[in-house]
Amino acid sequence: MLSKKLQDALNEQINAELYSAYLYLSMITYLVAENLVGFAHWMQVQAREEVGHGLKLFDFVHERGGRVTLRPVQGPPSAFESPLGVIRQALEHERQITKRIHKLYELAVSQKDYPTQVMLHWFIDEQVEEERTLEEIIGRMEMAGTQGPALVMIDRMLGERSE
Ligand SMILES: [Fe+2]
Ligand SMILES: [Fe+2]
Repeated sequence: MLSKKLQDALNEQINAELYSAYLYLSMITYLVAENLVGFAHWMQVQAREEVGHGLKLFDFVHERGGRVTLRPVQGPPSAFESPLGVIRQALEHERQITKRIHKLYELAVSQKDYPTQVMLHWFIDEQVEEERTLEEIIGRMEMAGTQGPALVMIDRMLGERSE
C-alpha cells in the first residue's frame, strides 16, 4: 500500500506529465503556424509520450491500491519566440521534470517503498534520454543555423522521428 504522502506526490507527478503534454501541444500550434511540419511532428510524438508517462503513473497508483486524484492542468504559454527558443524551453522544462522525478525517488527511498523505486528507475532513465535528445537538437541548430536552408534541413530531420 502506498503512503498518503507518496500517493500525493505521485498524483502531482501525473499532473506534471499531463502539463508536459499540454506544453508540447501548445508548442505545436506555434510550429504549425511557422510551417515547421517536421518540428511539429517531432513534438507531436513527444506530447503523446508525455500522456503515456501520465498513464504509467496513473496505472501504478491503482496497482498499489491507491487513489488517483486528477487536478486541473495549468494552462501552457501560447506565444513562442523562435524554433530554437521552443527547443530550449522544452529542455528547460525537462530539466525541471528530472528534478521532480529525483525528488519523488528520494521520497520513495526515505519511505523504503521499493516497488515505487523500481517503477521510477524507468523514469530516471527516460529523463536522461529526454535531456540528451533535446541537447542534441540544440547543438545541431547552433552548428547549422536556425534560418533558411539550415532550418529546412533540421525540420526534415525531425520529421523522420518514428517513436
Ligand atoms: Fe515525461
Ligand atoms: Fe518528457
